Amino acid sequence: MNYDLDKVYNRKNTDSLKWDFMKPIIGRDDIIPLWVADMDFPVAEPIKEAIKTRAEHPFYGYTQPGGSVVDSVVQRLKKKYNWNIEPEWVVFTPGVVPALQTAVTSLTHPGDEVILQQPSYHPFFPVVKNSGCSIVNNQLKLVNGRYVMDCEDLESKFHPKTRRLMGPGRLKTIIFCNPHNPVGRVWNPDEIEKMGNIVIDNGGVVISDEIHCEILFKGNKHTPFASISDKFEQNSIICMSPSKTFNLAGLEVSNIIIPNQRIREDFINTRAGMVPNPNLFGYTALKAAYKYGDEWLEQVLDYLQGNLDYIRKFLETNIPEIKMIEPQGTYLLWLDCRELGMDPHTLQSFMIDDAKVGMEDGYIFGESGQGFMRMNIATQRSVINSALNRIKNAYLLKEK
Ligand SMILES: Cc1ncc(COP(=O)(O)O)c(C=O)c1O
Repeated sequence: MNYDLDKVYNRKNTDSLKWDFMKPIIGRDDIIPLWVADMDFPVAEPIKEAIKTRAEHPFYGYTQPGGSVVDSVVQRLKKKYNWNIEPEWVVFTPGVVPALQTAVTSLTHPGDEVILQQPSYHPFFPVVKNSGCSIVNNQLKLVNGRYVMDCEDLESKFHPKTRRLMGPGRLKTIIFCNPHNPVGRVWNPDEIEKMGNIVIDNGGVVISDEIHCEILFKGNKHTPFASISDKFEQNSIICMSPSKTFNLAGLEVSNIIIPNQRIREDFINTRAGMVPNPNLFGYTALKAAYKYGDEWLEQVLDYLQGNLDYIRKFLETNIPEIKMIEPQGTYLLWLDCRELGMDPHTLQSFMIDDAKVGMEDGYIFGESGQGFMRMNIATQRSVINSALNRIKNAYLLKEK
């Protein structure tokens, strides 16, 4: 079927984080919300139908993921990446962030260190701190408008000389993000291999957050970290979910792939009593999404590509001071606003109070995000157009 993705829906008064909690979180409610990673597109029809059918059966008791839930994950990974996994490698959690928390806790002891590649998705910071660990920043480099990994710096973090300077803990893991939120890189196999070899050869395990793996712009291909080799498979925890791809965040379901038995058992023992299973509607949605969601997804990806092309042209023509970092994946656009010449707090108040556009401030992704804004482009083009015009007009006023 054809989905009308231009249609604007009223999402207010649905307890939507994005639409109903602007005031407490962003500071005002007369803004266009382009912040939290949630799409303004209604879910695929087969997902809605599957949930309605399940809801009609009036028993909502304790639920476990049966063979068909696991099989839908196994089949999805085979279909998308030709990656063959064993059913027992799949562990379900009610979100990727709880899985990251469990993973870091299970792999470290308090006082250890965890690598982040900043700018980083901001919930990674409390995940590391809640485990009693400290953050080691292997900062991404912006080279000619494109972010790249700094593998020399990564290697140096494990060097005995650097270790002596860094304190008594041990570097145990990295939270790798692919596609990367917020910079939008889809790391290629060579880059993944280089990074992975450094971490694993130094005794670390890679936690790979691949929640955005199916949101790719034209010409890009996702490589699951563990699909690189047996060594990578045996030393990683891969976090995936249908939630970003199919806009199901409120149903709270994620599929975590842990091939190594010991790492998996540690993960399961750590989550016991702390991180529950997803709820039954999450499993229902996951199955329907992975099996029947592609017709919807193709149209959404096409629409997002159109939004991206539209924004690029608008900025080049109207506000060339804002540079768009060309994303390869995710529907989150990393905007370099440094040429506007505002400090981070002025930039924040310019976007919210003057332009009345609610994006995420770059500095919450780490110091290297200062001067940047993250824009969620998974909304109708008319909404994007209004937001861009608000920014343009506010900037013209400021310039006068
Ligand atoms: C990189 C990344 N990881 C995790 C999440 C959140 O995952 P969940 O809602 O499943 O906890 C997001 C949400 O935007 C994200 O961008």
